[in-house]
Amino acid sequence: MQSLPAALDARLRALTGIDPEMRPATKPQFGHFQSNVALRLAKEAGKPPREVAADIVARLDVDDICEPLEIAGPGFINFRIKPEVLADAATAVLEDPHSGLVVTEYPQRIVIDYSAPNVAKQMHVGHLRTTIIGDCFNRVLSALGHTVIPQNHIGDWGTQFGMLIEQVLFEGIDAGTLTLDEADALYKRAAAHFREDEEFAAKARARVSRFQGGDEESLRIWQQLVDISKPAFNEAYRRLNVLLTDEDLAGESTYNDDLPVLVKELEDSGVAVVDDGALCVFVDGFEAPLIVRKSDGGYGYATTDLAAIRRRVGELDADRLIYVTDARQAGHFAQVFAAARKAGFLPDHVVAEHVGYGMVLGQDGKPFKTRDGSAATLTSLLDAAEEQAAPNIALAAIKYADLSSGLQKDYVFNAERMVQTTGDTGPYLQYAHARVNQILRRADAEGIGYGAVLVLEEPAEQQLALLLTRFGEVVDDVAQNLQPHKLCNYLYELAGAFSTFYEACPVMKSEGDVRASRLALIAATKNVIAKGLYLLGIDAPERM
Ligand code: ARG
Repeated sequence: MQSLPAALDARLRALTGIDPEMRPATKPQFGHFQSNVALRLAKEAGKPPREVAADIVARLDVDDICEPLEIAGPGFINFRIKPEVLADAATAVLEDPHSGLVVTEYPQRIVIDYSAPNVAKQMHVGHLRTTIIGDCFNRVLSALGHTVIPQNHIGDWGTQFGMLIEQVLFEGIDAGTLTLDEADALYKRAAAHFREDEEFAAKARARVSRFQGGDEESLRIWQQLVDISKPAFNEAYRRLNVLLTDEDLAGESTYNDDLPVLVKELEDSGVAVVDDGALCVFVDGFEAPLIVRKSDGGYGYATTDLAAIRRRVGELDADRLIYVTDARQAGHFAQVFAAARKAGFLPDHVVAEHVGYGMVLGQDGKPFKTRDGSAATLTSLLDAAEEQAAPNIALAAIKYADLSSGLQKDYVFNAERMVQTTGDTGPYLQYAHARVNQILRRADAEGIGYGAVLVLEEPAEQQLALLLTRFGEVVDDVAQNLQPHKLCNYLYELAGAFSTFYEACPVMKSEGDVRASRLALIAATKNVIAKGLYLLGIDAPERM
């Protein structure tokens, strides 16, 4: 449903032809919203602003929504929504199974590429961010009626397997019995060995082409490393309570057979040309070309990403592609998207977006490290938060901290602050939800029922109702612009409006229609907070 402010905005915009810049009124005596549109138009028209305002007020038809409009000060137009209109809108939120979310009339097939940890390596804090952010997009877009196709592009191929396999053979160990921690340690030993021992490095390089050429022994060890990694990833997903499953796995290795085909297509069409022995796609605006086949015949990360686009558009039939990785990969994706457009893999009607995120910092402002000084793994971060609070609260704290500031920004991981139930935190929202629930439970125990929102006289209850009616538009914005902090900010504002309401307007101590109406209003509040938290991937406990 369209929110009341959006409806007013649209009508005023249609009449004046400019953005009315509707703002929430700064004081209750100014109504609910103000627009300065007359002040801006007056300059052009060379007329006194109050005269322009009077003219707009005379012609703007909003009687069905507003009390008679007022002109204030130099020429502001004040809008006060009729209490019965607000009450109906709040009731509609309460009765709507989607709590006011606008299910789309144009469902799309949306691929979201997120999480994508690397085989034989522990997930690090960057993987924590992509997993949480991607999960939020998945929930939001699914809730609006789109078909979301998660693609977990795990790093299960590539040159690192040359040294990993060589190291396994060198040590004579059984890779199938390793834990992910042990595999991670193996990876580090292999990397050090590769750096320090020229002969080993040469063997590792030679192993890459043998392995990629289908050598049985190499593939057996590779498969073992893949097989021990997947359950560990799933364990992390379970702990994070995200929607990813094995069905969503589409690792780099799954594109192997496509690579030579795709590269041939590029060569035949002339999109790729040989330059210095390597096969390259030159795209405008990028200094270096995108290398699709190295001079030694190997394929890299970029070629696999081209193959992924080709499959996502051609086979998965996607209308929109969203990639969630750390911000440093922005250039890579910009170039891959441009090359894919040039190659015809990515037609104009398919939108491709890279959502980059910043780093997780320690309190010293440097990349977050564990106590022993090593780079933080996803597990160590969850452990640190769980030292401060119960698991579902710790998780809410982490997810909210991750989503509530602009994604591009680095954020400081402060477990102690994040788990507080006061301030702009996940647990604060959980607590607000539990608090509303407690009142509803008490009403229920006393046999006090409620139906619609009927009476909205107090400014605090009007503010709460107004905010409730904006939920759909906020979620829509997140679906379009992929900025989850707007949903976080909204929920924080809503929880604050509930607090203000609860201080000013007794619920159980009021009577009759007023009490029933207030119960209905807070029941709608509970639904919106619960749904909002769900969209962020955060659990909404009934009690706290
Ligand atoms: N595995 C990569 C990493 O850990 C992320 C892959 C992102 N997705 C993609 N299609 N390139 O950084």
